[in-house]
Amino acid sequence: MKAHIVYDSAFGNTKSVAEAVAGSLGDLDATPVAVSDFRPDDLAAGDLLVLGSPINGWRPTPKITQLLSTLGDGHLKGVKAAAFDTRVRMFIHGDAAKKMAHALRDSGADIISEPMPFYVQGSEGPLRPGEIEKAKLWGKSLLEALERP
Ligand SMILES: Cc1cc2nc3c(=O)[nH]c(=O)nc-3n(C[C@H](O)[C@H](O)[C@H](O)COP(=O)(O)O)c2cc1C
Repeated sequence: MKAHIVYDSAFGNTKSVAEAVAGSLGDLDATPVAVSDFRPDDLAAGDLLVLGSPINGWRPTPKITQLLSTLGDGHLKGVKAAAFDTRVRMFIHGDAAKKMAHALRDSGADIISEPMPFYVQGSEGPLRPGEIEKAKLWGKSLLEALERP
C-alpha cells in the first residue's frame, strides 16, 4: 500500500503542507509528488491519495482541476482519499478542498477525512504559525482513519 501526496504549489506553501503530511504517515511509503509528475496509473486499490491545492479564484488550480477531470468515473474505486487546500484568511475566500473531495468521491474514492484548509499570511505565504503542526496532526488522523476497520 502506497500513499500518494499530490500537490500543486506556486510559492511552496502547499508543498510544505504536503511534506508535513507525508512525514507524519508513519511507516507508509508516502512521497509528496508535484501534480505535473503524477501518473494516475500508479494508483492501486487500497492506496491513499491525498490531493493538495492552493485556492485560485475560489477553486483548485487549473493543473489540479485537469487531473481531477482525467480521473473520471470509477477510476478511484478502492482508493482511500482526502483533500486539503491553502488559502488566505479573508471574509470571502472560496473553497478548493471541498470541491476536490467531491470530485474524488465522484471518481469512486472512499473519502476518509473532512476537507482541510491551511492558512497562509499573504498570497506568497508564509504559512501562518501552527499550520505545519496542524498538517502533521492531520496526517496522523489520516493514518488512524486508514487503520479503522
Ligand atoms: C491568482 C491567485 C488567485 C488566488 N485566489 C484566492 C482565493 O480565491 N481565495 C483564497 O483564499 N486565496 C487565494 N489566493 C491565495 C492563494 O491561496 C495562496 O497564494 C496560496 O495558498 C499559496 O500557496 P502556494 O505557495 O502553494 O502557491 C490566490 C492566489 C493567486 C496567486
